[in-house]
Amino acid sequence: MQNQRPNKTILITGGAGFIGSHVVDFFVNKYPNYTIVNLDALTYAGNLENLKAVENKDNYTFIKGDITDEKLVNEIFSKYNFEGVIHLAAESHVDRSINDPLAFVKTNILGTMVLLQAFKALWQDNWEGKRFYHISTDEVYGSLGETGLFTETTPYNPNSPYSASKASSDHFVRAYGETYGLPYVISNCSNNYGPFHFPEKLIPLFINNIIEKRPLPVYGDGNYTRDWLYVIDHARAIDLVFHEGKNAETYNIGGFNEWKNIDLVKVLCDKMDEKLNRKKGESQELITYVKDRPGHDLRYAIDASKINKELGWKPSVTFEEGLSETIDWYLNNEEWLSNVTSGAYKKYYKEQYL
Ligand code: NAD
Ligand code: DAU
Repeated sequence: MQNQRPNKTILITGGAGFIGSHVVDFFVNKYPNYTIVNLDALTYAGNLENLKAVENKDNYTFIKGDITDEKLVNEIFSKYNFEGVIHLAAESHVDRSINDPLAFVKTNILGTMVLLQAFKALWQDNWEGKRFYHISTDEVYGSLGETGLFTETTPYNPNSPYSASKASSDHFVRAYGETYGLPYVISNCSNNYGPFHFPEKLIPLFINNIIEKRPLPVYGDGNYTRDWLYVIDHARAIDLVFHEGKNAETYNIGGFNEWKNIDLVKVLCDKMDEKLNRKKGESQELITYVKDRPGHDLRYAIDASKINKELGWKPSVTFEEGLSETIDWYLNNEEWLSNVTSGAYKKYYKEQYL
C-alpha cells in the first residue's frame, strides 16, 4: 500500500483521537517519504495508546499542544513549514457540547482560526502546492425528515452547540479561501465507528455496557437515524480528498448505511450475545429508554455520489464486517477499554446517565 509522491511535511491535528489516530496510521504507513507531525492536546479523548503502531516510525513526530495556543502553533509552523494541514482536532461529542458549549467554541472555532492564521502567515505569498484540509461533519446540515439526503449544497442549519461550532469553523475556512485565496478543501462525514472510538459515543458505549451487563441508555424512542461508516473507510476518503480533491470544494462522505438507533442496538446486542456465548436475547434485556437529548436531530444521511464520481471512493467494508471487527477489537482490548473508562470517565458517566 506504499505510494511514492513527492516529499511533503504535513501537520495532522487531533491525531491521538479516534479518527485522527487512524488517519495518522494510514498516512505514516502509506507515505514513508512524508514527514507527519501530529499536534494533539491529549484531552480526555486523546490517547497515545492509539498510536503505538507508529510511535517509533522515522517519518512520525508527536507534539503535545493545544491548537488554541497561538505562540506554540506559530513556532511549529515556522519550524516545520507544513505544506499541508489535515485538521481533525475538535471537541466532538454532542452531549458534552450541551453541558459545556464554550469549550467547543474555544477549540473548534478559535483553534481553527489560529491554524488558519498560521498557515496564511507562512504561505500567503505563494500558495502553490499548499493545502489546508478541514475535517467536518454532516451535522452542520441539521436534521433530515424521513426522506432525502444531505448533498454538498444543502444549506447549513446546525442544531447543537457542537454542530454550530463546526459550521462556524467551516465558514471561516471558506472565508479564508475567498478572502485570501487560501487553498482549502472540506469534507463533511457521517457517523464513524471502529477501533479506538471513545466509549461516550453510541456504539462503543453500548459495547462496554453490554460487556459489563449495564443498562443501555437509548435516548427518546430510539427512532433516530444515523448513517454509519467504518473509520478506515473515512481515512481512505481523507487520503483521496487531500491528494485529489479540488481546491475550494466540499465533499460529503457517508456509509450508504442508515440505521435507526434501536435497530442498530438490537443487532449489536445479538452479535455480542453470540461472541460472549450468552443466551440469545440476554443483552436486549439491558435496553432502557431514557430522557431524550435536547435538540436531538432526527435523521442524518449522506449523498456521497460526488466523492464517488469525482474521486472513485466508496466504502470498502460492509456494516456486518465492520461491526463484527469492531466488537472483536473491543473484546480483545479490554485493557484499553478499562484504562479509558477509569478516572474522569466515571464522573462523566455519573453526570450523564445516573
Ligand atoms: P475525538 O474526540 O475522538 O478526538 C479529538 C482529538 O482532538 C483528541 O485526540 C483530542 O485530544 C484532540 N483535541 C481536542 N481539543 C484539542 C485542542 N484544543 N488542541 C489540540 N488537540 C485537541 O474526535 P473524532 O471522533 O476522532 O473526530 C475527529 C474530527 O472528525 C473532528 O473534527 C470531528 O468533528 C470530525 N468528525 C467526527 C465524526 C465521528 O463520527 N466521530 C464524523 C464526522 C466528522
Ligand atoms: O454525524 C457525525 C457525528 O456523529 C460527528 O460529527 C460527531 O462527532 C459524532 O459524535 C457523531 O454524533 P452523534 O450525536 O450522531 O453520535 P452519538 O454516538 O453521540 O449518538 C448516535 C445516536 O445515538 C444519536 O441519535 C444519539 C443516540 N444515543 C447516543 C448516546 C451516547 C443514545 O440513544 N444513547 C446514548 O447514550
